[in-house]
Amino acid sequence: MNEPSRARYDRIGRGYAAHRREDPELRRRIHLALGEARSVVNVGAGSGSYEPLDRHVTAIEPSDVMAAQRPPERPPAIRADAGALPLRDDSVDAAMTVLSLHHWDDRRQRGVREMRRVARGNVVIVTYDPRVSGAMWLMADYLPEVAELDHAIFPPPEEIAGWLGGARIETLPVPADSPDRMLGAFWAHPEWVLDEAIRNATSGFARQPDEVVRRVVDAVRRDLDDGTWEARYGHLRQLSELDVGLRLIVDEP
Ligand SMILES: C[S@@+](CC[C@H](N)C(=O)[O-])C[C@H]1O[C@@H](n2cnc3c(N)ncnc32)[C@H](O)[C@@H]1O
Repeated sequence: MNEPSRARYDRIGRGYAAHRREDPELRRRIHLALGEARSVVNVGAGSGSYEPLDRHVTAIEPSDVMAAQRPPERPPAIRADAGALPLRDDSVDAAMTVLSLHHWDDRRQRGVREMRRVARGNVVIVTYDPRVSGAMWLMADYLPEVAELDHAIFPPPEEIAGWLGGARIETLPVPADSPDRMLGAFWAHPEWVLDEAIRNATSGFARQPDEVVRRVVDAVRRDLDDGTWEARYGHLRQLSELDVGLRLIVDEP
């Protein structure tokens, strides 16, 4: 749990790009939030998901394993930490970060202030509200360890908005057919719990000890086989999207 955040993604980031592909609606909402920005810094850029291809992007990524998964059409990533961005004050039009802030450990607030410092215009943050994500069936019934961890690592969105002096918070429903197989997207796919590669592309599962993962996989397999999951949650399969706590925070100065 005290593993430094760079080392964490060097360990769990393998295979990320194969299962965490851009969700088109999430991409549309992020690009809208970036407004007219021509230059953008992406903090915790990973393999480059959600970076606009039609604007000048500076990518910040501490993990070599994640940076190595950036496709050739994306700019190379600078090895740096959110808590000390290697950019001058007001040097880019906008700053974005997608599902990274919860990995910044004791530098979460400093990282958000860094984004505000370097951007002349909008700061755009995609994160989870742990009070909502913890209520999803996977966390509520099978994986309370992740709900507990999430409460410790995801600041409530209002707190992040407060660091920015009061930013707008929007709900991002997660589509049932999202190609970005983040933990929240499991709401429509209990079968994904049984797939090791899909599980391991989520930090929620990858940060758990083996015995916890085994317990969850066994329980979900049993409940799928005997119809318990279908009886409790089968109605979810009728929905095209669900609010599982994903939030877009937009600070427009
Ligand atoms: C879930 S991945 C998200 C990657 C990408 N933004 C996306 O949406 O696919 C989280 C990323 O945050 C990066 N990260 C972890 N700690 C960080 C830190 N202290 N500063 C900046 N990025 C960090 C990880 O290396 C990883 O690439």
